[in-house]
Amino acid sequence: MVIHLKFNPMKKIRDLIRPNIVNIQPYPPGKPIEDVKREFGLKEVIKMASNENALGPSPKAIEAIKKAANTVSLYPDGNAYYLKQKLAQKLGVNADEILLGNGTDEVIRVITETFLNPGEEVVIAWPGFVVYSIATDVMDGTLKRTPLRNYTHDLEAMLKAVTNKTKLIFIANPNNPTGTMVNKDEVESFMKKVPEDVIVVFDEAYYEYANEDFPQTFQYFKQGRNVIILRTFSKIYGLAGLRVGYGIARKEMLVEMNRVRQPFNVNRIAQVAAIAALDDSEHVKKSIAMNEEGKKFLYKEFESMGLEYVPTAANFILVNVERDGRKVYEQLLKEGVIVRPVDNYDLPNFLRVTICKPSENKKFVESLKKVLK
Ligand SMILES: Cc1ncc(COP(=O)(O)O)c(C=O)c1O
Repeated sequence: MVIHLKFNPMKKIRDLIRPNIVNIQPYPPGKPIEDVKREFGLKEVIKMASNENALGPSPKAIEAIKKAANTVSLYPDGNAYYLKQKLAQKLGVNADEILLGNGTDEVIRVITETFLNPGEEVVIAWPGFVVYSIATDVMDGTLKRTPLRNYTHDLEAMLKAVTNKTKLIFIANPNNPTGTMVNKDEVESFMKKVPEDVIVVFDEAYYEYANEDFPQTFQYFKQGRNVIILRTFSKIYGLAGLRVGYGIARKEMLVEMNRVRQPFNVNRIAQVAAIAALDDSEHVKKSIAMNEEGKKFLYKEFESMGLEYVPTAANFILVNVERDGRKVYEQLLKEGVIVRPVDNYDLPNFLRVTICKPSENKKFVESLKKVLK
């Protein structure tokens, strides 16, 4: 006998999940090179979509990765002792003031899972990094988005958005997707006014690319303020594929965050590669120099094409193509160039382009000229 079940399995799942999950838009990653090669039958494809380091990883990190390959049958050191020691020494902090994560993305999740109660508010700037919104929604927090002013965080507006329900403020500095920076004076004035019990997260994923006027946020954590500073090995160190990022905060905060963190969140290969990369100041210097050169080249090309762009303090540039950015992105894919459309950041006419090697920047400009013709 056949039994006909009378329920709709899709509806059932919707009934089971937490309501705050339903409307979360999954994070849209940059399109992988392999997908574009396959879809368009191309041999050569360049990716300028995810703000990775086009120079690749430091050669020292590659060596360390090779050496560690035969140890992967063992769990990693869950406390990442050697990496933390190395970072502590470099940054002038104590090892117990560092929380490592599977990328900064994970540290952001650890922050919201540790501190955010349902209904509490998180202030962010918009357009801004979407991982903050997802992490807030997962915890059923309330997101308060303050618009950028001249593509830059409006810290005064962010202060005005603070209420007695505000738990967290995220400041991406430089900001993604605009590449803009808030400077020392602006941050100093903000820190004087922000209530002491609000946790301020300075996400400094791109700080190595920024200029001298970059705020010294470590002073606030040393003063005992409720700040968390985020940094990553994904950008200048060229280790995005290994996923290592970290947060710096007072020990009292980290003790709580460590309860939430997954026990083996930074894998063995990532730990040794990060240690080796920290020793490769040559690679960092080269990466900064390449970025500066690429930035000048792209500015000049955009100017000659009459395209507005946002001057950047990071390794990517937001450019206004004055038409549907997603269509231009799709046409560029056919040329073998992957950039990032930013319509999901409410910037429908813009593209976000990672500054890459000179030959790649040139190929991008040639393809853009062809597509915009
Ligand atoms: C502002 C910002 N924060 C954090 C991250 C995530 O970095 P990670 O690779 O360390 O997770 C990114 C990545 O694009 C970013 O743009």
